[in-house]
Amino acid sequence: MNRTVKTAVLISGGGTNLQALIDAKAAGKLPHVSFCAVISNKEEAYGLVRAEKAGIPTHVVKKEKGRQEAFEKKLVEILESCGAELIVLAGFLAILSEDFVKKYPERIINIHPSLIPSFCGQGYYGLKVHEAALSYGVKVTGATVHFVNEIPDGGRILLQKAVEIQEGDTPEILQKRVMEEAEWKLLPRAVEMVAAQLCAEEEAS
Ligand code: GAR
Repeated sequence: MNRTVKTAVLISGGGTNLQALIDAKAAGKLPHVSFCAVISNKEEAYGLVRAEKAGIPTHVVKKEKGRQEAFEKKLVEILESCGAELIVLAGFLAILSEDFVKKYPERIINIHPSLIPSFCGQGYYGLKVHEAALSYGVKVTGATVHFVNEIPDGGRILLQKAVEIQEGDTPEILQKRVMEEAEWKLLPRAVEMVAAQLCAEEEAS
């Protein structure tokens, strides 16, 4: 048996990317990954149900207005108590401070629904990204998995996949196509790639 990298997944909503990770694990495609926690900043997030069904411990950490420090302190407590070595932001739409991000260099992975550096950074999340791509008129968009650093959507790119825009696309239609054709494939691949690399570095040292 491989050693597995304990991975916490942070979500805010539907959790279809979390589901892609759960399904990939069940299909034996994530041999270096084990899930130690799913944390949501929204208690109504459907992703929490997906995690429970998969037997992954769940936590809800809500951010009270102006209480960023307390929010992150609670996140760190959970991450430490479950021994998380890798953090995956799978549709986690709360802001994380520079201090938080600096605690986990090259240990936080994010999925973003565009080809970075297009339509990314402050204010670009969820459907807004697809609205922006359509209103700009690009013919190709896609998804990017990247490490998180102190620059919003600015960390090292791990994987990208292009998706064509089609006549008649609405933000909702495009969002679905980007998820199906790119996000749900890329995220499990990137998480396994990073986890396998961490294991290989450990073995070599
Ligand atoms: C996904 O499209 C993800 O790429 C996006 O939110 C959606 C979450 O869906 N993330 C961002 O926009 C981050 N800037 P999900 O909850 O079904 O995985």
